[in-house]
Amino acid sequence: MATTLRYDAEAAARLVAIYLTPDMVAQRAAVLRAAVLRALVPNAGDRVLDVGSGPGLLAAAIAERVGAAGQVLGVDISAPLLAYARMHFAALPWLRFVQADAARLPCADASFDTIVCTQVLEYLPDVDAALAEFARVLRPGGQLLAIDTDWDSLVWASGDVARMARVLALWDRHVPDPHLPRTLGRRMERAGFERVCVRAVPLLNPAFDPDTYSNRLIDLIASFAASRGADASEIDAWAGELRARDDYFFSLNRYMFFAVRTR
Ligand SMILES: C[S@@+](CC[C@H](N)C(=O)[O-])C[C@H]1O[C@@H](n2cnc3c(N)ncnc32)[C@H](O)[C@@H]1O
Repeated sequence: MATTLRYDAEAAARLVAIYLTPDMVAQRAAVLRAAVLRALVPNAGDRVLDVGSGPGLLAAAIAERVGAAGQVLGVDISAPLLAYARMHFAALPWLRFVQADAARLPCADASFDTIVCTQVLEYLPDVDAALAEFARVLRPGGQLLAIDTDWDSLVWASGDVARMARVLALWDRHVPDPHLPRTLGRRMERAGFERVCVRAVPLLNPAFDPDTYSNRLIDLIASFAASRGADASEIDAWAGELRARDDYFFSLNRYMFFAVRTR
């Protein structure tokens, strides 16, 4: 059994539910508002690659901006997520989705102006190989925007701190590197990117609401924990306590990196 989380049909459905919450709509808006993208993406004819495009929601928003003269390619490893993206965004012929590994892109050298890669690098066993691939397929001067999470930034109020720590220690195993942002900037530079800058993208749920990132995340964590043999009664108690709290509080930081390919 794989150690890290793979988006099979069940996990893919949970991920889609997460990505349709207002929290994730706001995160996509933050990506599209980012100055570095504003300079590139609205230009008709731009070629944009979304690596790990998942449900395709960000790729579709970018495709609307580049218009029919542009090209947007979404690449993902998960067949169920590719199926969702193709079914929902078939109306834009300049937007395509293909199945491939981020470290072996089916793309020619220097064939894209921009790469976006949101919450994907942390899933990869070899981040440096993927960054080298990104440098290969970006044209000189092309730009990379990546978002990743440092799970140590998580604050999640619980009446049972020890149980919360046990569940989160298990959840840390859903990706090879739950703390990738702390090394990502240097690794981008080593891969041939310059002017790497970073900003925090906070995700805050200060009260319980079913239609939030953190409520949907409870289900994803619970199913991941169950599939890794966790004690079902402990996971049920963990989820139940969170959802019943009067003083619910969840906060998590993503980190958005911008970089330019210089060589
Ligand atoms: C948390 S989701 C992010 C989805 C999307 N980027 C977004 O922000 O809406 C992580 C995605 O990375 C994909 N992924 C994981 N490993 C991959 C790999 N080796 N190559 C390509 N995609 C991968 C997963 O299938 C999933 O769609």
